[in-house]
Amino acid sequence: MQGIDRWASGKLGIPSLLLMENAGLAVAAEVLKFKPRKVLLFCGSGNNGGDGFVAARHLAGRAVECAVVYFQRPDKADPELNFGVLERMRIPLLVWGRLTKARRRALLRRADAVVDAIFGIGISRDVAEPYKTAIEEINRSKNPVVSVDIPSGMNADTGEPMGACVRATRTVTLALPKLAFKRKGSRAHTGKVVVANISIPPRRDSRPSVSGDF
Ligand SMILES: NC(=O)c1ccc[n+]([C@@H]2O[C@H](COP(=O)([O-])OP(=O)(O)OC[C@H]3O[C@@H](n4cnc5c(N)ncnc54)[C@H](OP(=O)(O)O)[C@@H]3O)[C@@H](O)[C@H]2O)c1
Repeated sequence: MQGIDRWASGKLGIPSLLLMENAGLAVAAEVLKFKPRKVLLFCGSGNNGGDGFVAARHLAGRAVECAVVYFQRPDKADPELNFGVLERMRIPLLVWGRLTKARRRALLRRADAVVDAIFGIGISRDVAEPYKTAIEEINRSKNPVVSVDIPSGMNADTGEPMGACVRATRTVTLALPKLAFKRKGSRAHTGKVVVANISIPPRRDSRPSVSGDF
């Protein structure tokens, strides 16, 4: 999947920001199906978090009250750009390190739905603090949890939890189902899997054949 992402933006020239926009829009559409009034989004510092920032913008545009919990400022251009948009929209951006346990509990209690955009397929090591606590608290939420691409903490190749793993109600996976979802038992973490088209075309060898003499 990472190779396909690189091919789409590097070789075909589809802007990665456009893929992020489509991903966030698809996530927002899925979240709206739960008809929430308030949504709490947890966003990591990579592109998965960027998808979450875009989803927050679209949800706010549909009159859903949003608050974003983040851990550190994004470390890549596309999520950074979308973080800046949320700042200028004055959507509450709450840094995890400054939230007490009581405040986090209140935020989760008030939300009707949660978006998990902490880690996607870029997870590179076992989940440690503070992410472990965040995932455990998300898992205690009584409300629907929508994961972006893959539940945070799931190994994208094997489907094994990496120390801690979100248990989602629904996973909006981008472009193609991930290898991880083939693992027996992964459904307990992904919930229902929805595949979102984010404008990555099928590769030439898997496109419907044409005569070639158009
Ligand atoms: N724009 C596009 O082309 C496109 C296309 C399709 C999908 N996406 C989205 O982008 C996602 C992949 O984005 P990404 O490659 O930036 O990866 P990511 O899944 O967003 O995760 C990478 C970030 O998480 C950190 N990280 C990884 N494992 C960690 C751990 N155990 N503890 C703490 N931090 C950890 C990394 O920090 P370190 O650098 O310190 O490891 C990095 O900041 C996909 O899942 C999808 O949501 C993007």
